[in-house]
This record gives sequence, C-alpha cells and structure tokens, in this order.
Amino acid sequence: MIGVFDSGLGGLTVVKELLKLLPQYRLIYFGDTARTPYGTKSAETVTHYAIEITNFLLKKGAKIIVVACHTVSSTAMPALKEIFPKVPFFEVVTPSMKKALKLTKNKKIGLIGTRTTVESGIYERLFKEVDPEIKLYSQPAPLLVPLIEEGWLKKPETRRIVKKYLIPLKMRGIDTLILGCTHYPLIKKVIQEKAGKRRKLVDPSEEVALEVKTFIETHPEFIKELASNEDPEIYVSDITPNFEKIAQLFLGRKITLKKVNLG
Ligand code: DGL
Repeated sequence: MIGVFDSGLGGLTVVKELLKLLPQYRLIYFGDTARTPYGTKSAETVTHYAIEITNFLLKKGAKIIVVACHTVSSTAMPALKEIFPKVPFFEVVTPSMKKALKLTKNKKIGLIGTRTTVESGIYERLFKEVDPEIKLYSQPAPLLVPLIEEGWLKKPETRRIVKKYLIPLKMRGIDTLILGCTHYPLIKKVIQEKAGKRRKLVDPSEEVALEVKTFIETHPEFIKELASNEDPEIYVSDITPNFEKIAQLFLGRKITLKKVNLG
C-alpha cells in the first residue's frame, strides 16, 4: 500500500497523479484537516505531526510513504528518516528542484510556498549544492492555501492575490516558477495566466508521482506488497460537508472521507 499525507486536502493533487500513473496500486491518504495549515507552524510542531501520521499510515499497512506536503518535506525529513530508517520516503522538494534545474535557461528561478517552506531555506541550500549559479527568488504566499481549501479556485480575489504575489518574482526576470505547495496545482491555470505564458511552472504533484513510479518499477519486491485495484482510502482528522465537497473537487471523483483521531 502507498501511504500519502498532507496537512489537509492539498495533497490529494499528488494522489490524483499517483492514480493516473499507478492505478493498479492500493493507496491510503491522511489529511490533517483538524490541524491545517502547517505552513504557519514551527518546524518542531510540523515534525511532531509528521511522525504521528507516519506511524498511523504504517500501522494501516503502508509500505512506502509519500510526503505530499512542501511544509513537511522542507522541515521534517531528517527526523522521519532517522525514526523510520527502513521506510522508503518520497518528498516533494527534491524532485521539484531537479525539474526546475532542467527547465531553466537563464538560471533565475522563482518559488512560491508557505512561510514555513520559504523560511526553511531548503531550496537555496539544494540549488547551492547542485548549481551555485542559480538565482532563487522566493515569495511566501500564505493566503493561497485558505483560498484553495475554500474552493475559491477561479474567483477574482484569488486571481488578484496571485498576481500580487508574482509581481516581485516577474520583476527579477525568472523563467521558471516552482509551485512550492501541494495545494497550488489546483490553481495552476490562474498561476500560469498571471506568470505569463512563457514562464515554465514546476508542479510538485507530477514530479513526485514520477519518482514513485520509477522506484516501484525498479524495486519489484515492493510490487506484491502494494498491488490491488481497490479505491483509495482517504482519512482526515476532521470532517465537514465542505471538506467532502472540496476533496471531490481535488480528486475529480466521488469519494468518502473517514475520520480518525491520531492523538
Ligand atoms: N499542502 C501543504 C504544503 O504543501 C499546505 C501547507 C499548509 O498546510 O499550510 O505546504
């Protein structure tokens, strides 16, 4: 079983890509809807939540874990790998960084993400290691997650806010923009429109799904552990009728959410 988690429902964009690329594998998702957003919390708190959720997914039978959250990927990975050394983890930062590196021609890359992700400085560190000539321009975009969780995907207010966040990055002449939050693919069209047609967008959900696919193809021992054709199981820590509606919007299919208390 492939375990996937996020602070809320945004990680379902990753589930959608995984179902597209690997429809034959069983999938379990946990969205921490009771404690979302993570992007305004400290790295310590986010790490504590991530450990709790990983324990839950492993107990449910997950054999590999996909961290479908930029905020967790940029703060909690060292702790997760240390506590669960045998578990293959996939996170969204490294594949997004690699893709941006492939796409950029002028070596000016933009990043939008939650405050915690941007302030973690993880992208600066990674780019410095692989290509010190890369200039990274980062912009925290804290208003986007609540707008997306509210289903305001195409509203004029959302468009205006996206435009405002992108102005400083466009002024720097970026040719590539990393969507540094798994919620953002839901408003990819608006972001592309405001960024301008010529700028390339890096979608973390596509990149991490491709990495998982390659891993499974090259690790046949995992195939029998993961295979099945059942519907994905979607767990959340809080449930409201609106969450169900939004989850269906994210996944593009009818789903039933199950509530679970981790504490
Ligand atoms: N999807 C999460 C991320 O990628 C949302 C962050 C949040 O909960 O604030 O960072």
